[in-house]
Amino acid sequence: MLKPLRNALAFTLAFTTLGTAAADPIVIKFSHVVAEQTPKGQGALMFKKLAEERLPGKVKVEVYPNSTLFGDDKEMEGLLLGDVQIIARSLAKFEQYTRKVQLFDLPFLFDDIAAVERFQQSPQGQQLLKSMESKNITGLAYWHNGMKQLSANKPLRMPNDARRLVFRVQTSAVLEEQFKAVGATGQPMIFSVVYQALRAGVVNGAENTYSNFYNQKLHEVQKYVTETDHGILDYMLITTSDFWNGLPPDIRAELDKIVVEATAHANKEAQRLNQHDKEMVLAAKTTEIIALTADERNAWRDQMKPVWAKFEKDIGPDLIKAAEASNKTQ
Ligand code: LMR
Repeated sequence: MLKPLRNALAFTLAFTTLGTAAADPIVIKFSHVVAEQTPKGQGALMFKKLAEERLPGKVKVEVYPNSTLFGDDKEMEGLLLGDVQIIARSLAKFEQYTRKVQLFDLPFLFDDIAAVERFQQSPQGQQLLKSMESKNITGLAYWHNGMKQLSANKPLRMPNDARRLVFRVQTSAVLEEQFKAVGATGQPMIFSVVYQALRAGVVNGAENTYSNFYNQKLHEVQKYVTETDHGILDYMLITTSDFWNGLPPDIRAELDKIVVEATAHANKEAQRLNQHDKEMVLAAKTTEIIALTADERNAWRDQMKPVWAKFEKDIGPDLIKAAEASNKTQ
């Protein structure tokens, strides 16, 4: 080959290789199981927007909502195998990895989301984000959804009304026990099949936030919601320690800041969307929302709270005490 030609070819090749290296962003797949118009859906989109604005060409975020990449039964496996880099998993779905996070499922533990927030930001709450490091799982943040309500096709006012009904639950032994405590059955089931299971009568009822209830169209298959606020549905935003620690330090530092901002956005949306979706349920006129009197709500609390004792040893009594203390503002 003629020398000038060979040089030109070498130059082109080198340029192309360099160009490709510079143009190859780090791809972060963010998979979740809910709709986009939910607190988690909106948080994920904000994470993508900020990451791609602030790290142009360096980071690309692909968001997969509605269990399109992984359902909640496969997302942990996907994360640990490196097929997805970030998920925001319900706190009810960690018992296989740590028993401590079961804390968040204890019925009637937190008075409201403000108390949940205080606990999550406390040293004990922050420590839980690191409780799965030995399994290569790093908690980046907590994201709120909201307080859970009960739903069924019959009005539930007193615990006895739930007797013999089957309620769909997330994969959580605490939630199974919670329904056992009122003479019902908690049937674990992945999120994507809840609508069908209710429609087919495989289960009679469910518990979820207004956001998930409305976005899964559960108002089409449930005639009553009882506003119990008996527990919370929140998330831990997680990645693998290998992936996060392997990022170039400048990129990781920027992403850490972005996580904080996306968290604030998701949490603001959580409040707004749960209120909005409650109004949408009312507007649909398919489902009656039952407000409980203080005495009625206390009856649910009295029957469900003994469940705590069964999990106290695994969770740790001190952790439970710290969570309870977050209900009081000093
Ligand atoms: C559920 O399974 O009901 C929730 O965990 C879904 C979600 O991610 O909000």
